[in-house]
Amino acid sequence: MRKKIVAGNWKMNKSFSEAEKLITDIADALDDVNLRGTEVVLCPPSLYLEMAMDVAFESNFKVGAQNIYPEDSGAFTGEISPMMLKELNVAYCIIGHSERRKYFLETNEFLQRKVDALLKHDIRPIFCCGEVLPEREANQHFEVVKKQVEESLFHLPVEAFKKVIIAYEPVWAIGTGVTATMEQAQEMHAYIRGLIATKYNRQTADGTTILYGGSCNGKNARELFSQPDVDGGLIGGASLKTEEFLQIVTSF
Ligand code: 13P
Repeated sequence: MRKKIVAGNWKMNKSFSEAEKLITDIADALDDVNLRGTEVVLCPPSLYLEMAMDVAFESNFKVGAQNIYPEDSGAFTGEISPMMLKELNVAYCIIGHSERRKYFLETNEFLQRKVDALLKHDIRPIFCCGEVLPEREANQHFEVVKKQVEESLFHLPVEAFKKVIIAYEPVWAIGTGVTATMEQAQEMHAYIRGLIATKYNRQTADGTTILYGGSCNGKNARELFSQPDVDGGLIGGASLKTEEFLQIVTSF
């Protein structure tokens, strides 16, 4: 059985004291729920990772970063490396988010380097893919996602690929309040799983966790997570509110 994951992508939000309170509140709330095997991952801004790791040490969640630069060290002003994350014991790192593709011009080729850099240090990439609205309207969404997945992930040998989490995040659904329907999510997740089966094998495809992201909230999570190929969510705005996030993590 593949792992169910609900990950909170906090993006660039919260002051240090607000972040500390939110993490502690979520940790306390998680103590009282039965997650039934769902892994909860919190991805705060890099500056808060050490604090988050301290809380996570005695709690029921894992910590992820939102970005890395794909080198161990060097003259890359302002960046953080997977080696630094490893030292803190950070378990996951989001890469390929549409905001980084859009604002920081990250390409599929560059993301391939990030995947390799993370796996070298045994940090699990949460690899985001997804089409923008004009691409969906032109019925190119399968093609776009296929290219993203192929060009950034399919160079990996099978054992390395098994460490990767995929997050399908249709860009038109991110932060818009417009969620993909459960049929749209299921269709794309099944398509991605099919690509993995063709490239690697059915067992690997069946073992790959594929998350949905884009205006997932306490109200629609249950419906989305009920789909056979939707293995959880990558949550933006709703992961900043303890109660709503808890509602989502218990939606399986
Ligand atoms: P929202 O849940 O705010 O739409 O953001 C989704 C997202 O980008 C998670 O990475």
